[in-house]
Amino acid sequence: MRNRPFTFDISIADALLSTYDHHIERYLSDMPGMFADTAAYTAQLQQENPLLYEVYEIKLPEVAGELLHGLSVVHPGQVGDEYFMTKGHFHTVLATAEVYYCLKGEGVMVMETPEGDWAVEPLRPGSVLYVPPRWAHRSVNTGLADDLVTFFVYPGNAGHDYGTIETQGFRKLVLNRRGETQLVDNPRWLAPEERMS
Ligand code: PA5
Ligand code: NI
Repeated sequence: MRNRPFTFDISIADALLSTYDHHIERYLSDMPGMFADTAAYTAQLQQENPLLYEVYEIKLPEVAGELLHGLSVVHPGQVGDEYFMTKGHFHTVLATAEVYYCLKGEGVMVMETPEGDWAVEPLRPGSVLYVPPRWAHRSVNTGLADDLVTFFVYPGNAGHDYGTIETQGFRKLVLNRRGETQLVDNPRWLAPEERMS
């Protein structure tokens, strides 16, 4: 575990950190039920199991006061009409924020609160995105030719809560309809008062 100051470099062209402690890879098979078109998901998985996204993390104590940081790389592609994306999550400690800095590619961050308020912000090289406390977040790669590469920083005690998102997804889907990116209501999404507790 790191407990001394350190420096590292980001190679934007290769979407790599010069040092990291942990590398997460998420394949299509790791995301059952997360894409809206479940028939397209099943059909695609029978043909191929592409790598959807990768996360490079620096290992630090997961406690308040630390700032966890690393690189997220979402590869280009789609499942049915829906672009490749991260699972998305709330922070377990809901009152914790996150900052994303986009280094490469084009995409959006889809966000929502437990009350059902939603927001979608663009990610372009040079964009800084602030995810306030209480907002769930998911990166979506809308550029079909290139990786979406972001650097993220969040509090050490935040934690990841995938629960609600895994069962019903975000309120808005980001789709490629005949070459145009569209935001569409997620038919599976239920307002908080309609959910079974
Ligand atoms: O904490 C974050 O928001 C990021 O490090 C994400 O974990 C990363 O982008 C991968 O997304 P997810 O954790 O939703 O699979
Ligand atoms: Ni987060």
